Amino acid sequence: MATYNPVINKAEKTFERSLTYDLYTDPKVYQQELNDVFAKSWQLVGHVSQVEKAGQFFTCDVAGEPILVTRGKDEVIRAFYNVCPHRATKLEKAEAGTKKIFACGYHGWTFHLDGQLNKAPNFSGEDAHCVSDRCLRSVRMEIGEGLIFVNLDDNAAPLAEVYGDFFDRLAKFPFLGELKRINQKTRVIKANWKAFIDNYLECDHCHVAHPSFIATLDMKNYQIVTCQNYSVQASVVKPDRKMGTTDLNEAEFQGGEFYWLWPNLMVTIYPGPANMATIQMVPIDHETTLGVYTYYFRDENLSQEEQDLVTFAEQVRAEDVELVELEQIGFRSRAFNQGVYSSSEKAIVQFHEMVLEALGR
Ligand code: FES
Ligand SMILES: [Fe+2]
Repeated sequence: MATYNPVINKAEKTFERSLTYDLYTDPKVYQQELNDVFAKSWQLVGHVSQVEKAGQFFTCDVAGEPILVTRGKDEVIRAFYNVCPHRATKLEKAEAGTKKIFACGYHGWTFHLDGQLNKAPNFSGEDAHCVSDRCLRSVRMEIGEGLIFVNLDDNAAPLAEVYGDFFDRLAKFPFLGELKRINQKTRVIKANWKAFIDNYLECDHCHVAHPSFIATLDMKNYQIVTCQNYSVQASVVKPDRKMGTTDLNEAEFQGGEFYWLWPNLMVTIYPGPANMATIQMVPIDHETTLGVYTYYFRDENLSQEEQDLVTFAEQVRAEDVELVELEQIGFRSRAFNQGVYSSSEKAIVQFHEMVLEALGR
């Protein structure tokens, strides 16, 4: 039987212990996380470039809830539960499109872009008054630097308040307002969603697992800073290196910045041409996660430099996915029930403390 030493003392230093591994393998924990983490936090659902014109909409899923985001005739972007107030049918089936009015496919109720009921054909005359206030139910929605967030918790603190100066930091990238959401890729990862966040929040593994990353970025000056409900890792490109094919003298931004926002969002900005990517780890179940990777550039016709950047990011990501899938095998093992953090893994400590607090442990 394996023995377990709860505290590791080495050279008089005590290392903190990680989350216990049952939090990565227990279906009951996943169920609790849906309510206590994902239904109570700001979740990225899209970008303003997806709803540039009145009537443009997209649908998505947040913590199992169907959501509809659209721009009204008054130019206001709104989010609703994508659920018909007559008898619950999912209202809009398409992933995205443009509509003048939303129509339910069951009994034909129709709704204006601002969520107000237009017509309820099976309620006429006197009956019509009884249902006239049955509009779509709104969801908390806020926009930061073009990113559209939704929060299912009506009592949640405002987006800007939750993430401190994160949006101010983003605003320092002068090109951000010009970026459009160019494409999105998804990948099913056979690991708990937290394993990928853990992986993202430290770079101890970079020397071992990411040869292209450490060849390009100056790891001696790699920084990890924990902030209010988010953290940031930053480095600059080595003086003798190029990022993809970019001549860094002409690059719009020369350092890399890699943000994590509680609970499951990562925002990365690489050196080189104007770019941003978001990565979301959306749990499918306790041991399966949908990785959602979205790229933002100025134009959908990517230049060679931009394509190289995507290739670089995808290479690093593939290396990480393999690692977390191997880690999940070990989480299930009886060999150990907990790990330890190195002193350069403080951003993981922050994340794990937030998980424990959210779960009331
Ligand atoms: S459920 Fe939508 S119109 Fe009846
Ligand atoms: Fe990595």
